[in-house]
Amino acid sequence: MLDESKFDVHLKLWALRIPREFCKVATKLLNGHMLNRPRIKPVTEDPTSEKTRYVILSESVQNPDLSDIPSKNLNELKKLCKIETVPYSLTLGYSYWGADQVLKQVLPSGLEVPSSFETIGHIAHLNIPEELLPYKDVIAKVIYDKNQPKIQTVVNKVGSIANEFRVPKFEVLAGKADMATEVKQYGATFKLDYGLVYWNSRLEHEHIRLVNKFQNGEVICDMFAGIGPFAIPAAQKGCLVYANDLNPDSVRYLKVNADINKVNDNIRAYNMDARMFMSQLMTVPIDESDESSNNLENVITSSQERNVGNGSLKCDDSHVAVKTKGSKNKRIKTCIPSTCKSWEHIDHVIMNLPASALQFLDVFRGLIQMKYWKGSLPWIHCYCFIRSSETQESVILEAESLLNAKIHDPIFHRVRDVAPNKAMYCLSFQLPGEACTSEDITDTAPGSVHI
Ligand SMILES: C[S@@+](CC[C@H](N)C(=O)[O-])C[C@H]1O[C@@H](n2cnc3c(N)ncnc32)[C@H](O)[C@@H]1O
Repeated sequence: MLDESKFDVHLKLWALRIPREFCKVATKLLNGHMLNRPRIKPVTEDPTSEKTRYVILSESVQNPDLSDIPSKNLNELKKLCKIETVPYSLTLGYSYWGADQVLKQVLPSGLEVPSSFETIGHIAHLNIPEELLPYKDVIAKVIYDKNQPKIQTVVNKVGSIANEFRVPKFEVLAGKADMATEVKQYGATFKLDYGLVYWNSRLEHEHIRLVNKFQNGEVICDMFAGIGPFAIPAAQKGCLVYANDLNPDSVRYLKVNADINKVNDNIRAYNMDARMFMSQLMTVPIDESDESSNNLENVITSSQERNVGNGSLKCDDSHVAVKTKGSKNKRIKTCIPSTCKSWEHIDHVIMNLPASALQFLDVFRGLIQMKYWKGSLPWIHCYCFIRSSETQESVILEAESLLNAKIHDPIFHRVRDVAPNKAMYCLSFQLPGEACTSEDITDTAPGSVHI
């Protein structure tokens, strides 16, 4: 247990008792000689009278004769009003000191004080290194106490992430064991359960950077969408987003987030393996005119159906009518083509599963049925890790081998360093035509998967 009284520091100071109305001018004349401690005001109430106040003097003013203060200033003040020197005791306790200062005192010297943590809504996420684990409870208590009222739960990551949903295991060290929280990014609100779904606040800039490349009316396909940090802002921009994730909890929150951000009409949510998702998204229904033959099994569709008709893929300024089940037609400010069919056109594919997204690139081999495709081929944004022992060229070679096609003008964007010798990158390129033609697929029955 932390004995909070151990942090008390008693200061024996001097203060000047000054009529209230002269306090302002007094602080000017005593500038540089008043108590200068963060979060403590040097002018305070006089408990004995409402007509006077205390101006607390600096710790360097040792003598009650005030000989430490220039006599010129003091005389000027004395000419203005009656001043009286009084002893002033001040105790700086546990609540005064910052987390760093408390932890420095608590932890054995030589151990590095944990300086930062990730904040996810009301949750503080710590990664306590092994040598500090014996002190994890006291570290968590100090971080909890010093971040009130914002932080209500302090968790520590346990072990490395082994599961396919990329959700770390946490132990709750302080506060309530409630991992359901809410975060805001670039004007969108995201609800999530940090114990059940993947979330990384450090990717905020990357989410914005990529979404900034999308245009109103474009069709986006997010193969590893999580709770929607790409999908929701893209939908807010007026894109139509096919968003998929293997984790049912992520998809549940994706739908909640589509609701609370009022972009239901622009998001179609799916819960399946990314390969199957891409294959089925590109499968042309036997009866192509049958709009309801969406052959995605296991689909958690959005609550709406798009009102389809004839139109062009070209974006114009018109608004598209959207029919919502159980509600009247309503108009949204977007230029999503009214004939949107996933097997006919997609503008961008997002693949944010850096540990293995590259290995999914072979799904594009012969995936697109070129005779139905309209417009240019999609841009692929594939995230990956590159160690200092690896090169961008080796990544391209791997990607080309999986696509069975040459990638032209690849663009690498360094997202962030994840370890001293490992960085996360986004590799963007336009899907090469060769990849599509290498194994062209003919019409297939609904529900079948081509891999
Ligand atoms: C690194 S997270 C990215 C989530 C989100 N795009 C973001 O930026 O926060 C990867 C996501 O891929 C999902 N995932 C893992 N394997 C998958 C698979 N085979 N198919 C579909 N989704 C998968 C995980 O559940 C996780 O939500």
